[in-house]
Amino acid sequence: MATSSTFFNEDTIHGKVKRFMYMRHLQAFVPSTQYSGYRTIIYDAFAGPGRYGEDWPDAIEDLGSPLIALRVVIEDFIRRKKLELSFDKVRKVNYDKGKYMRYVQKMKKTITTRRRKTITLPDIHTDVILNFSEADEGSYDKLFLNVVSVFKFYGIIFKIYNESCGVITVKSRNRKLLFGCNIALSKFKNTLLPECGYNSRYMTFIDPFGFNSIPMWHIGKFVGQNKEVLITFMSGFVNRFKNINKNRKVIMELFGIGNEEEEEEEEEEEEEENMVTVDDICDELLTVSKDKDGVTRCIQLYENQLKKLAESDMVLTFEFRNIRNIRIYHLIFITKHPTGLKKMKEAMNRGTQSPEGFILSEYMILTKGIELSLGNIQSNEQAAHTIFEKFQGKENITIKVIEHFILFDTPFVFRKEALKILQKEDNPRLIQVVDRYNNPPRKRWTFPDHTVWFLTFRMRDA
Ligand SMILES: C[S@@+](CC[C@H](N)C(=O)[O-])C[C@H]1O[C@@H](n2cnc3c(N)ncnc32)[C@H](O)[C@@H]1O
Repeated sequence: MATSSTFFNEDTIHGKVKRFMYMRHLQAFVPSTQYSGYRTIIYDAFAGPGRYGEDWPDAIEDLGSPLIALRVVIEDFIRRKKLELSFDKVRKVNYDKGKYMRYVQKMKKTITTRRRKTITLPDIHTDVILNFSEADEGSYDKLFLNVVSVFKFYGIIFKIYNESCGVITVKSRNRKLLFGCNIALSKFKNTLLPECGYNSRYMTFIDPFGFNSIPMWHIGKFVGQNKEVLITFMSGFVNRFKNINKNRKVIMELFGIGNEEEEEEEEEEEEEENMVTVDDICDELLTVSKDKDGVTRCIQLYENQLKKLAESDMVLTFEFRNIRNIRIYHLIFITKHPTGLKKMKEAMNRGTQSPEGFILSEYMILTKGIELSLGNIQSNEQAAHTIFEKFQGKENITIKVIEHFILFDTPFVFRKEALKILQKEDNPRLIQVVDRYNNPPRKRWTFPDHTVWFLTFRMRDA
């Protein structure tokens, strides 16, 4: 298993693509929440230091996930013309790091050794709050200095303070840029987000090395109404479930069987009540670990547990394969909001190499020489065909209905281009497009957004 000391020395293709999709999602999430007047709360639960190696890359996606989020937020302020300056890494690159490390040393002294102490990150009363937790001290120190560097590279004046135990806050002092970062030296399962009220939208990224530090009972605090989560699930470790007895507690936590908090209160009673379920799931996992297609079943089991927790069916899963074409992990996204689903689907659509689903294989890139495009490789012809299969012979179908079908029931993202294909062909499958007064669009093969269009599809054999 990778460790903090080696993991961040070198980047990988799958890591890069994972972070690229996270970045694309945030590039949609931050402006849409901000423009709608919500507070934007981002949480990177397994943050890492924020950089791979010692360089400062120009491309945002080449940074580690916490700095990606920070730069996406600042770039959005620039787009909204609240900040004129832009990223310039030579700006004050040689600042006095010792001065800033003294904040860290002071903060570390405030941490009590009491086991399992929960840290609640403070509400710093800004429009955007970036929350980071990192358990490893060395990575934490680097992360803190890297965050300070990014503020400096953009020329943003900031203040630093330490109000809560184990947390340092770096907050913009520019009144037009209402944002800041809470950086916690803590484990995910001991960290809670600030309560920012009903008008907040939360996005959490859970990106651990393994599966023994992401208890479902804790993940539950980050999914649900107005809260979406992206999780790296190490499905490639499924064979470890063979050793059920050794991993029993981890498995219970991972799949959310038994509740650690309640267990503390009613330990014996709880243990008895849960025995059946735990055994059931262990039996299932035991079969899964022997099964040729165990990974698929394991992922389904995990997704189902997540869906129950979030009370939502809106899940997307992206599969990563290594250089031997073996599945290493899955990236799972869960939300309760169709807009969140749509934005993540757009992001995953750019990361995938397969037109049929969301898959990236290092084998295809490094061995087969297939180029990594990170563009939209979707075949609009195929999407058009899928739309026709569903709506053939139907009249007065709105684009909204087609969009909904594409989002929820297909691997595609919606593009008007697919409708254009159906309308433009020699024997058009899309035979009529009119508004509510029965008028067609002024320009042929277009579907302008200013009104609702009613679409009629011919029968298959017409
Ligand atoms: C896979 S790396 C994260 C990479 C990061 N998301 C990125 O894209 O750059 C996992 C990080 O989580 C940290 N970590 C390990 N256990 C943790 C825990 N229980 N809580 C919080 N962080 C933890 C590790 O030190 C490491 O820096």
